[in-house]
Amino acid sequence: MIDRRQLLVSSALAGSALSGWTSAFAAQTENPATAPLSPDMPTPLGHLPAPVPAQDPSLHRLNDGWRFHEGDIPVPSPRGNDETYSATKAGHAQGAAALDYDDTAWAQVRVPHDWAIAHPIEPDQNNAFAYRRRGIGWYRRTLRLPAQWHGRFLELQLGGIATLATVWVNGVEVAHSHSGYVQLNIDITPYVSFGAEPNTIAIRVDGDAMEGWWYEGAGLYRDCWLAVRDPLHIATDGVWADPRQNTDGSWHVPVVATLESSAETPGTATLEAMLHGPDGRIVAQQRQSATVAPLGQSEARLTLPIAAPQMWHPDSPTLYTLETRLLDGSGKLLDSRHTPIGFRTIRFDAQTGFHINGQPLKIKGVCIHQDHVGVGVAMPEALWEWKVRRLKEIGCNAIRSTHHAPSPALLDACDRQGMLVMDENRHFNPSPDYLAQLQWMVRRDRNRPSVIMWSVLNEEPMQGTEQGYEMVRRLAAAVKALDDSRPVTAAMNDGMFTARNGTDAVDLVGFNYKANWYDRYHALHPDRPLTSTEDTSAVMTRGEWRTDTERNVLGSYDTEAPEWGLTHHDSWQMIGSRPFIAATFVWTGFDYHGEPTPLPWPAASSSFGILDICGFGKMAYHLRRAQWRTEPVLALAPHWDWAGQEGKPIRVMVLTNVERVELRLNGVTVGMQDLKPSTIPEWQVPYAPGRLEAIGFIGGKEVLRAAVETTSAPARLRLTADRPLMLGTGRDVQPVSVDLLDTMGRHIPTATDRVTFTIDGGEIIGVGNGDPNDHDSELAENRKLFAGLAQVLIRAPAGKGDLVLTARVAGLPPARLLIRVVEADVGPQIAASPAAQPLTEWRRAEFTASAPDAAHAYPASAWQHLSYVRPGRLEEAQSANSFTLIQSHYAPRGPVAVHGGQVVFSGVSGRAQLWIDGKLAARKDSEADGPLQADLTPGDNTRILTLALEAPAGKQVGLSKGVTVWAKEV
Ligand code: GAL
Repeated sequence: MIDRRQLLVSSALAGSALSGWTSAFAAQTENPATAPLSPDMPTPLGHLPAPVPAQDPSLHRLNDGWRFHEGDIPVPSPRGNDETYSATKAGHAQGAAALDYDDTAWAQVRVPHDWAIAHPIEPDQNNAFAYRRRGIGWYRRTLRLPAQWHGRFLELQLGGIATLATVWVNGVEVAHSHSGYVQLNIDITPYVSFGAEPNTIAIRVDGDAMEGWWYEGAGLYRDCWLAVRDPLHIATDGVWADPRQNTDGSWHVPVVATLESSAETPGTATLEAMLHGPDGRIVAQQRQSATVAPLGQSEARLTLPIAAPQMWHPDSPTLYTLETRLLDGSGKLLDSRHTPIGFRTIRFDAQTGFHINGQPLKIKGVCIHQDHVGVGVAMPEALWEWKVRRLKEIGCNAIRSTHHAPSPALLDACDRQGMLVMDENRHFNPSPDYLAQLQWMVRRDRNRPSVIMWSVLNEEPMQGTEQGYEMVRRLAAAVKALDDSRPVTAAMNDGMFTARNGTDAVDLVGFNYKANWYDRYHALHPDRPLTSTEDTSAVMTRGEWRTDTERNVLGSYDTEAPEWGLTHHDSWQMIGSRPFIAATFVWTGFDYHGEPTPLPWPAASSSFGILDICGFGKMAYHLRRAQWRTEPVLALAPHWDWAGQEGKPIRVMVLTNVERVELRLNGVTVGMQDLKPSTIPEWQVPYAPGRLEAIGFIGGKEVLRAAVETTSAPARLRLTADRPLMLGTGRDVQPVSVDLLDTMGRHIPTATDRVTFTIDGGEIIGVGNGDPNDHDSELAENRKLFAGLAQVLIRAPAGKGDLVLTARVAGLPPARLLIRVVEADVGPQIAASPAAQPLTEWRRAEFTASAPDAAHAYPASAWQHLSYVRPGRLEEAQSANSFTLIQSHYAPRGPVAVHGGQVVFSGVSGRAQLWIDGKLAARKDSEADGPLQADLTPGDNTRILTLALEAPAGKQVGLSKGVTVWAKEV
């Protein structure tokens, strides 16, 4: 048997898209026209992301102020024994990880950042990755930490790095990331300095290392944070609160808080847990104290009773907030968290599928990847909120995060909007490093009411073997040890009937495709709960009605599915009619970059989506709504702009869940059909321009009408925002749709005009149109309409005011859109830092009895032979010889050479004079340790910096801390 994966890759690479596809990719020719779907414009909902309390107030956003270099920077090989000895020491990383590496010419970027999305689409690159190069990149960030943070616990959190990474802090190698889907949490407390001394984070990212067969992006693509906490604090992901129902129907919330301490002595603190109801009022409260050993961890456990909470459900996602506060003996607040939780019971039944709060609920889910046009995988949080809302409109109630742990912003949106989640890990591997990734995911996500199952693999070749079984058993056990309330599943597509296989080690048997095995497996194991973990994989190109190999597009009549998948119609027939199959998880909710199967070059994005890559609905959007929504829906496909096809039959579909449909063309009845559930009424309608209208009836009464009309010449452009308000956090992003309207204000579904955008008061961060074959840059300020639509992503500035987006198209007046930007709490963040260069090369002259000439510049050859000076190493002044001087030769670079800067000695012991190029620049008359600083004039000429020092006999003299040149803040 041909391996399905081989088929998928080879067919796409070979450019022969047809093999293995059941339906007529090439043969479907009955409708010669190719044109777009009737409009599906998002409505302006006025929806604004609700302000929610920061879940972890200790977090400071670290998204600004990064410098980026694309390409590798090889570390120079050390020469000779001394250099080699030195290069191996902590703090002495070489090359681009070195403390004083010059990054001032690197690009300034803000995180989330995906450098691959800026790359062109190139035919010699991998189609799985959207034909985009990835490569290697470096990031650096200078970090200034206020003196008052000295003694606190500092944790660097890097949300997601595609793909492998090494991280250095102040020249110390502090972490390796083995997966782009796992957050790195790094205790940087031991390595950092405070006040005037800079800190350096350096990250080498290997974007070529791949973990998936889809577009994975490259770089620091999720948020970065610095946690600043008391030495005695709540650990990251250290609150576990998963509500449980008692046998009498009342509830309790068991709270386990993991406390840890970086202090030098044991500490005792009290954990106070308060449960806030949806209205903010405290409904339960408890305290518990715990003692934590220095550099140790311990747990504080308590239980909050609650008699009759409001329940969380996809239709009414009521959230409570668990506030945990850690207090010291005097009642001072040391740390706190706000953890959203929800009360719901879940159960998977072998006969009746999924139950929530005691009621059966068919899971109508979609699989998703994590990218969008313009931003690639660097998804702004607001866009997640929007995507979840878009899916809810379809009647979708679940998301499977394929095939990796999702972004926290997505999970927040799911908790708030009532979207169930299958949480899946990336690597099928129970060896310690990989098991730790799974454990991290479960620990992070186990409080979330949205998460209802854990998936430990996807279509792994070992799934049907005894080895696969043993691997699943270990992964499942690791999950159970951390969370006993949700089932473990495995998304299997083979090997389910062998003597020992992955299904034997899970709670919930997951089928990827293989719909014809559902009944067989169910008959064999009637006591095992079953779910689809992935299905459908039907393909269509938005707005195209005929599969056309010339134009490389797929028709939208729901006829195209790969040999392993099914059409939307057939897939739902299989799953919707089987109560023992808990869920459908349609591949996929949205099109995504990469995996363009079955389309060969030049298609660079997938066609599996119910919505396209911009989130515009395809025909499947209306079809799935008809299948999934309970209230009446009715839509017509295709559009009715078929000039030149007069009199020829057009295949017309009505996507609806009503009982009877009447179709009328220009007021004349074309036909009437009584519908069984899940049927798609169709007609061949001889084309005549005008109005095609469907009328839906339930119980003999008209309930809905939908129409498509022949449009006329374009009269104006339209910009449609998702919401009229944006938050002035500097991070809020929303998609704006653009289309052309005719003289009667009707959307023109066939328009392909190029639209250009300008913005005043915000930023355009990406454009797209859903055309898999369009290779224009997504980082541009113009885009052609595809099947009548394009999208522009806009980011609001920090602060408040108005933002005006203007769209222009040749021959028509411009369209303008005004968005109000409202002031919003930005939250704590670490400001970008000016460039800093540590001056590490100093030499000291012999101690002398009288003051040496501080204006003297040692020639390089003589300077080399003076004593080496290392900050932190002080000398003792002798009775006879209490004067010395230290000297450095320094050539300003980057912004210091252009604008000037400041040299800062963070700690000098002894009386001191600072001389620059033979002139006294600053002095410190006290013997006590203290700072010294002086301005540097612009210019890149080498400066002689001389520190003349004096101290009474027996006293310490020298540099107690580092010396830094800071660029001016301009
Ligand atoms: C599945 C796989 C997905 C995607 C899909 C395309 O087998 O799990 O990641 O490749 O096929 O149909």
